[in-house]
Amino acid sequence: MGQNLVLNMADHGFRVAVFNRSHARTRQFMRRCAREPCGGNVAACERLEDLVASLERPRKIVLLVPAGAATDAVIERVRPLLQAADILIDGGNALWTDTVRRQRALSTQAVELIGCGISGGELGARFGPSLMPGGSRHAWAHLEPIWTAIAAKVDRDTGKPVDGALPGRPARGGEPCTAYVGTGGAGHYVKMVHNGIEYIDMQLICEAYQLMRTVLGLAPDQISRVFANWNRGNLDSFLLQITADILSQTDPADSRRFLVDRILDSAGQKGTGEWTSRSALDLGVPANAIAEAVFARCLSAHKDERVAASKSLKGPRVRRPGAKRRRELLGAVRDALYCAKLCAYAQGFSLLRAAGSEYGWNLDLAGLAKIFRGGCIIRAGLLQRIALAYRHDRDLANLMLAPYFSRQLARGHTGWRKVV
Ligand code: 6PG
Repeated sequence: MGQNLVLNMADHGFRVAVFNRSHARTRQFMRRCAREPCGGNVAACERLEDLVASLERPRKIVLLVPAGAATDAVIERVRPLLQAADILIDGGNALWTDTVRRQRALSTQAVELIGCGISGGELGARFGPSLMPGGSRHAWAHLEPIWTAIAAKVDRDTGKPVDGALPGRPARGGEPCTAYVGTGGAGHYVKMVHNGIEYIDMQLICEAYQLMRTVLGLAPDQISRVFANWNRGNLDSFLLQITADILSQTDPADSRRFLVDRILDSAGQKGTGEWTSRSALDLGVPANAIAEAVFARCLSAHKDERVAASKSLKGPRVRRPGAKRRRELLGAVRDALYCAKLCAYAQGFSLLRAAGSEYGWNLDLAGLAKIFRGGCIIRAGLLQRIALAYRHDRDLANLMLAPYFSRQLARGHTGWRKVV
């Protein structure tokens, strides 16, 4: 991600100095840069001291290292080399309270720390991520031109991505998927909740898949076509689109088998969903779907226990429905997915609302929905509607109460109940 973020900045004409603790890695990256049109904007540094000395002041140093102890170690290393007003930007998935602790420690030498959630994985970093910066407004002003240039861009009116970003040819026009989020750890908090929503969204897609596979007896390529079709309507989202792509893949070693069946059904997790659930408990926000999604991952990780249990806990035999009933059920699964997905976003945004008031961040929920419209993992057509709902009513208690979404729930709840 770090390398791709550098190339994205270089594409936009920014000169970037890079450092990695293994210089062999840096050399390898420089060979990659030599093949890119923007490579001339990147300079390699063998020592951290060289990197710091090469930068204009106030220095802007982006850290892309794993969250936790590694981030603390890098900050401790770079700290003695910094001067007042220099700015560190932590682009990892840091726990927001760690960000606040680090900001306090760095403030004794007047160094700023922006805790910035970055979403979109490696491709997002290269061609336009969603960026959620939190910290002092003053430090943000120095970062804003770079962040605005490299962020994903979406059409203002439709919320659809402005396509066309290629190496050496950044996308032009559209609204950038970044904006100042708030003081302290607000940026990392928002990224954490983004990930909580991501956890539920993935779980819901899994459950829809499971119903189609087990109850309706559809094969992965048929489910792929169903998802691709739903993705053209109001369920349009990045996660659904990539799921449709994945389900159509066959095993390269045996084209009669689907790749999904060759993948171990045991998922890990890095912690952001769990942090989101803990925060929801702390603040008394019923974000139960987020917590359920975390538990579902835990259950998935207990593979041996599940296999052992399946031998004695047989469950019912599934009776395949006939063609008419199958069509009906398929429509119900679609409605259930939409309604539950709406709940996922509603719970995430309710948590953001509560945290914003508890921690004095004054979060602009319409603005956050806009940042999520492009570049990030939870990007979905729904977000344009969410942005409109909060723009219309800043104090909306729950997204499900926005007139548009109430109507959607009224339309979909019968199918949703049938699925339950
Ligand atoms: C992103 C992703 C990315 C990753 C998380 C969650 O926004 O680009 O959220 O940060 O998916 O680290 O990882 P786990 O699902 O493994 O906890």
